[in-house]
Amino acid sequence: MCGIVGFVGREEAAPILLDGLARLEYRGYDSAGIAVYSPEDGLRVEKAKGRLQVLFDKIHGGADVKGHLGLGHTRWATHGEPSDVNAHPQLSESGRFAVIHNGIIENYVEIKEFLQEHGVTFVSETDTEVVAHLLDYYYKDDMMDAVVKVLHRINGAYAFGIVCADCPDRLIAARKDSPLIIGYGDGFNFLASDVTAVIKYTREVSYLDDGDIAVLTADSVEIYDSLLQRVEKAHHQVDWEVSAAEKGGYEHFMAKEIMEQPEAFRKTISPRIQDGNVVLDDLKIDRAALEAMDKIYIIACGSSYHVGVVAKYTLEKMLRKPVEVALASEFRYCDPIVSNQTLCIVISQSGETIDTLAAMREAKRLGARLLSIVNVVGSTIARESDDVLYTWAGPEIAVATTKAYSTQLAVIYLIALYFAKQLNTISMEEYDAIVAELQVLPDKMQQVLEQKENIQYYASRYFNHESIFFIGRNIDYAVGMEGSLKLKEISYIHSEAYAAGELKHGTISLIEPGALVVALAGHAALFEKLMSNVVEVKSRGADVLGVTVASLGKAMEKTVDAAVMVPDTLPMLLPSLEVLPMQLFAYYIALMRGCDIDKPRNLAKSVTVE
Ligand code: AGP
Repeated sequence: MCGIVGFVGREEAAPILLDGLARLEYRGYDSAGIAVYSPEDGLRVEKAKGRLQVLFDKIHGGADVKGHLGLGHTRWATHGEPSDVNAHPQLSESGRFAVIHNGIIENYVEIKEFLQEHGVTFVSETDTEVVAHLLDYYYKDDMMDAVVKVLHRINGAYAFGIVCADCPDRLIAARKDSPLIIGYGDGFNFLASDVTAVIKYTREVSYLDDGDIAVLTADSVEIYDSLLQRVEKAHHQVDWEVSAAEKGGYEHFMAKEIMEQPEAFRKTISPRIQDGNVVLDDLKIDRAALEAMDKIYIIACGSSYHVGVVAKYTLEKMLRKPVEVALASEFRYCDPIVSNQTLCIVISQSGETIDTLAAMREAKRLGARLLSIVNVVGSTIARESDDVLYTWAGPEIAVATTKAYSTQLAVIYLIALYFAKQLNTISMEEYDAIVAELQVLPDKMQQVLEQKENIQYYASRYFNHESIFFIGRNIDYAVGMEGSLKLKEISYIHSEAYAAGELKHGTISLIEPGALVVALAGHAALFEKLMSNVVEVKSRGADVLGVTVASLGKAMEKTVDAAVMVPDTLPMLLPSLEVLPMQLFAYYIALMRGCDIDKPRNLAKSVTVE
C-alpha cells in the first residue's frame, strides 16, 4: 500500500525523491518522509503528516536537503495513526540506519519486547521501527550482514529501502510479498515500489523476486537471492509514457482515465483480433486442456471482482461450463473445490493485491492452472501465473478504477470468444457478430461519454442523497455492483447494489419517499421484469434514475424520473457501455460534495496488506 522510492546518483536526491513520491502517492497518502545522506549533515530525515505537499512545502521542494543518496516514503497507515513520528523513514536509535517499508512485520511485538529488554527506546507505534533498531543491534561494521540477520529474524511481508550512514555510497533493497523494482540509469540507480516513480528518469527496470536483496550504488546494482547467491535479473523496457501518469489538463486523474476508456479498450482488443478471429498467442492453454476443464474459478477483489461477476454470466452462457467467482480474501477460507482440471482466472489491475496473490497461490497448490488478467507488466501476479493476458490500459493513477475495469471486461470478452470457438459452443454466425460488435464498441463508448453534461446534471439533482440503491438483473446487476462501489468509495454516500428481484425479500423496507434508486435495465430480455421492480420502488416514493439502451428508452421514460440511454449493443457487451454513466455519476457527485476524488479517505490504490 505504501509507496517507496530510493535514489543514488550524482544529482541532488531530495527533489528526485519528492518527484518519485508524487507519482507513487496513490499508493498511500496519510504522511510522507525522506532520508538523505550528505557528508555535512549526515543522515537527515524530514517527515510530515498529511499529503506529500505538506512535506514538499516544509523542505522547499527538496532544496533544503542536500545529498546524492536517499529514500522516500508515502504512507498508508497500518500500525499507528498517521503522524509525523509514525511516518517513514524510521531511524535506528544510533541514527545510523534509516528504513522505509511497505508491508507488515507480523512478529514485531516480540522483537520490540526483545529490543526493549536490551535498553532500546521506541518513539513510534510502527512495526517498521523494530527493523531500524534491529539493524543497529546486529550491526558489526558490515551493513549487509546486519540486513541478512534482520531478514532472518522477521516474519511478514516487506519491501524495504535501507540506508546506513557508515556506507553512504549505497542503498539496500529487500523484498518479500511486497513489490519492488530496480530502475537502472547512467550514473544513478533507483529502487521503487513501482515503475511510475522512475519512468521520468529511466525505462530500464528489473523486478525483484521474493527473498532478493539488492545493493545499489550510483554505478552498479548487485542482486542476491535468499541464499545470498549473486543473481542476474532480466532487464525490461517500460513502454508507458510519462504523460500517461500525468493529468494532461484534467482536474482529476479519474476524469482523465474515464475519458481514456474507448482508446484503452481499443488498444486491448485490436492486436488480438486478426481477420475476424480472436488470436490469443500469449495463451499456452490448448484445446485438450479446455475440453478437460471441469470448471472455472475467478478470483479477484473489489472492482476486479465485479468484472468477475460479469464474467461468470458471460462465460457460463458461452462455454456451458460451471464458473464460480470468489472474493480473493474469502477464497482461502472456504475450502475451495479445485482440481488439476480447474482453470483459475485471476483478475487484478495492479497485479500486486495481496489477497488475490495469496488466493491464487492456494489455487495453484490445489492443482489449478492460473490465467491472469493484469495491467501492470511484470507484477507478481503476472509472473506467478501460467498464462497472462495484459490489459493495455496504461498507468491507472486514480484510486477508483475505471479504465482498468473496462479493459478487464474487454479481455473477458476475448477469452469467452476464444474458448467458445475452441470448445465448439458457439456458432460461427454468433461468433462473427460478437467480434464485429466488439470492434465498434469503442465508438459507442465514446458516444456515452459525450453525454457527460447530461449525467452531470443528474448528479446535481441527486448529490445530496445519503443512501442510493442500484438494482438490476443478470449482467445489469453486476454493473450495478460496480456503480455502487464507485459511488461509495469516492463520494462517501452509502450505497448498495441489489439483484432487483431480491429487493422485496427485505431491503425494500428501506425505500421511502425521496430514496434514490438507480435502475439498470439494458438487458432487453429482462426489461419487463426489471421495470416491475421499478414500479414497486416508485410506488413507495423512490426517485428512479434509469439506465437502458436507446431502443428501450421510450418505454423506460414512461416510468422513471430520469433516464440515461446508451447505444444498443449485444447483451453480452452491455456492461462496457452501462458502466460509463455509473462512473461519471459517481465522479460528478463526488465533485459536487467536495471530495478528494483521486485519493479517497482510508483507501490506497494497491492493496498489499491482508
Ligand atoms: C476500485 O475502484 C478499487 N480501487 C478496488 O476495489 C480495486 O479494484 C481492488 O482493490 C482490486 O485491485 P486490483 O485490481 O489491483 O487487484
